[in-house]
Amino acid sequence: MTEPVVRASGLTKRYRGGGGEVGALDGAGLEVAGGEFVAVCGPSGCGKSTLLSVLGGLLRPDGGELDIGGTDPYALAAGARARFRAENVGFVFQDAHLVPYLDVFDNVMAPTLAMRVQGAAGRARELLETFGLGDRRAHVPSALSAGEQQRAALARALLASPGLVLADEPTGNLDRGNAERVLGHLADCAAGGAAVVMVTHDEGAMEAAGRRVTMDSGRITDEQ
Ligand SMILES: Nc1ncnc2c1ncn2[C@@H]1O[C@H](COP(=O)(O)OP(=O)(O)O)[C@@H](O)[C@H]1O
Ligand SMILES: [Mg+2]
Repeated sequence: MTEPVVRASGLTKRYRGGGGEVGALDGAGLEVAGGEFVAVCGPSGCGKSTLLSVLGGLLRPDGGELDIGGTDPYALAAGARARFRAENVGFVFQDAHLVPYLDVFDNVMAPTLAMRVQGAAGRARELLETFGLGDRRAHVPSALSAGEQQRAALARALLASPGLVLADEPTGNLDRGNAERVLGHLADCAAGGAAVVMVTHDEGAMEAAGRRVTMDSGRITDEQ
């Protein structure tokens, strides 16, 4: 097997504040190689979104180990960690989270505000063509359907060709046709060599992934 892009083990995380503590991760571990498309499913509140945030270098765990391509992002200072994330990790969420006053092209180019991306404008145009948005480049997000907005968000996440793509219920707000398009693009990412981890409730989305893992009470309990 190829070297995993991401290797996590024994992750723990508790949220503090608001007068109490909530356990979110309790020994979660996952290894994903380049080329793999993994679906993570499990009941609401079992820690799926927390796991993705930790895997992506957005949320420091209380304990456990994380390695992304040989680097522990939490061993880096905040600025270096932000750069590491920008270069290596693409995030997609249930809502596209596009910037409302920027047109689609500038939204896709947004990662270049934080770092240099070789040939960014050409790559943005190419991604928008691939995602069927070539003629929507100059439109603001509110002029697009939910499916188009999600494809634009995916294009933005892929601009820097990250080795790790993390998607949190990316098809949750989409109809079947648009969900299938987004899933097809995520599968293409994996086919292109990225490690893709997608949290989902959606049976169709689980089937699109080559590997399925189940989470319960803050840990991975099943793998198929
Ligand atoms: N920022 C937060 N502060 C306090 N508790 C949180 C926070 N985020 C999530 N939680 C709690 O942590 C647990 C796991 O949440 P989450 O990772 O969002 O689960 P899932 O994505 O599987 O629904 C839940 O009990 C949730 O209420
Ligand atoms: Mg969630």
